[in-house]
Amino acid sequence: MCGIVGYIGERDAAPILLDGLRRLEYRGYDSAGLAVMDRAGAVMVQRAAGKLGNLAQRVEAAHPQGDAGIGHTRWATHGPPIERNAHPHSSPDGAILVVQNGIVENFHDLRAELRAEGYVFLSDTDTEVIAHLIHRFYHNGCGGDLEWAMRCALARLHGPNAIVAMSKDQPRRLIAARLGHAGGVAAGERAGEAFLASDMPAILSHTDEIVHLESGQMAVVEPGRIRYSTLSGDAVERRPVSVAWTAAEADKGGYAFYMEKEIYEQAASLTAALRGHLDVENRRVELAALNLDAGKLAALRRVTILACGTSYYAGLIGKHYLERLAGVPVEVDYASEFRYRQPLVRSDDLAVAITQSGETADTLAAAELAKERGAATAAIVNVEGSQITRLCDGVIPMQAGPEIGVASTKAFTAALVDLLLLAIYIGQETGRLDAEQRGELIEALLALPGMAGALLDEARRSGRYARLAETFHTSRNFLYLGRGMHYAIAREGALKLKEITYIHAEGYPAGEMKHGPIALIDEEWPTVVVAPQDRVYDKMVSQVEQIKARRGKVLAVASEGDAYLAGAADYVLPIPAANEFILPILAVLPLQLFAYEIARRKGLDVDQPRNLAKSVTVE
Ligand code: G6P
Repeated sequence: MCGIVGYIGERDAAPILLDGLRRLEYRGYDSAGLAVMDRAGAVMVQRAAGKLGNLAQRVEAAHPQGDAGIGHTRWATHGPPIERNAHPHSSPDGAILVVQNGIVENFHDLRAELRAEGYVFLSDTDTEVIAHLIHRFYHNGCGGDLEWAMRCALARLHGPNAIVAMSKDQPRRLIAARLGHAGGVAAGERAGEAFLASDMPAILSHTDEIVHLESGQMAVVEPGRIRYSTLSGDAVERRPVSVAWTAAEADKGGYAFYMEKEIYEQAASLTAALRGHLDVENRRVELAALNLDAGKLAALRRVTILACGTSYYAGLIGKHYLERLAGVPVEVDYASEFRYRQPLVRSDDLAVAITQSGETADTLAAAELAKERGAATAAIVNVEGSQITRLCDGVIPMQAGPEIGVASTKAFTAALVDLLLLAIYIGQETGRLDAEQRGELIEALLALPGMAGALLDEARRSGRYARLAETFHTSRNFLYLGRGMHYAIAREGALKLKEITYIHAEGYPAGEMKHGPIALIDEEWPTVVVAPQDRVYDKMVSQVEQIKARRGKVLAVASEGDAYLAGAADYVLPIPAANEFILPILAVLPLQLFAYEIARRKGLDVDQPRNLAKSVTVE
């Protein structure tokens, strides 16, 4: 969703804020703005609709002076993405400035209340309500104390929100607060300076010692000093945690887009995902931070996987892993559905939340609900210190490094590794998976990064995917088919294409094609079949025959050396032969590359597709 930054210190704030916003642009990019304040309390606000470049031009022309400020990159919720709706928003006198990520759910009521008191609204946003509310309490009841005015205003807000405010009356101070599961607020300080941001990449080049604000906490930020408290004013001790990610990891590293970099670095991210989890000698998996003892695992009645988007598709594959290797029934639910369907949860359930960001509002709410109803909870998560890590009883870290491209790639394959590790672990702890089977799976996992690296190297050298993009970038529709674990890969492949190329694509279970989608097939409607040589390969072959009989074009993700598909399909996207549990992790790579190259061929902004956001912190 939206990105927030704040800076206070000795240096010019504008370039620091712009740099932070650039690193957060993946969170929202329909408009942006910043406010810079000097030590006398003079404030200059710049806002612009569209991408961050528009704001940067204005800032460059206007040279706002000051060593404190706040900035925002927006993903519109209330009101269209035009300049007057861009943040920061201010109180009627312009003295209090606010940036917000979240939704004020009672904003209609609050707006009516404030209007009745004479407040005038210049934007369509819910954010302006916050600025006016703070202003009201500042002048009535809080005796000119911004901190208390903010507490009083926050007490009136419903809904998840992260807010940063500043006031001309207190030019050496920013105040940040977090209510509920709105996108995070990370705070960091170093000699004479302090930083705020929705997400760590905006802070990492300044400090790697970071505090993540908890829901219901406030941070009063002064140069080199941050004080934490609850919303009712009690001081809270928060120690910064050291973050292993580096600023360089969060950079593009010479690639045209983050997504390209993140696809090609999967040999490394898969290696990292395995780090610390394999005891090769004893053929065992270690998941120390899962916090579930063997007794609890043996009594497990069911696993419920909760996730959204790409993480949900990882969950569909996790079901196969867990049912076959751990012998436990698995349900996979969209977090947004689970939370509203009054699910039956028992104390012998394990709820596994999968989330790259650890901040997706629906996933957090679903995991919280499962926990409230007595389930043990675990998170498969990439972002260290994110909210889900604090909510769940246990964690399996993806360790994939920062993922910036909006369309998830390396976090998906890391999540699959983690799910496989979890399945092996439960099988091992319950005695359902013997040492020989574990040994084979561990061997396969160890070989995986090398196989992924070879596949990606060959793809780059051969230029195959750029050529395919040349042929298919004008297609208007695609069908993606797969069966078993590869049904989920078909859906993920279709999602990647939709997200970044805006081409309609449908992922379907191959066996269901004859019940409807086959009616769509003609020369103009290509089908991607995910058909490596696995236990359902023969079934996939007959699907290919049926499509060819209707003159449809077929692109087949196929095992290297598959002579049949090399002849029957129009195009082959090869993957190496591998252990069947590893195959889906390899089979998704060609589909990531295919979507990426089509988006590039169409000249689209791969990292910032229209209408999407990297982490969806509102409902
Ligand atoms: C957004 C992103 C997707 C992501 C989904 C779930 O929709 O654009 O790429 O898969 O959120 O995100 P999470 O961080 O919970 O995995």
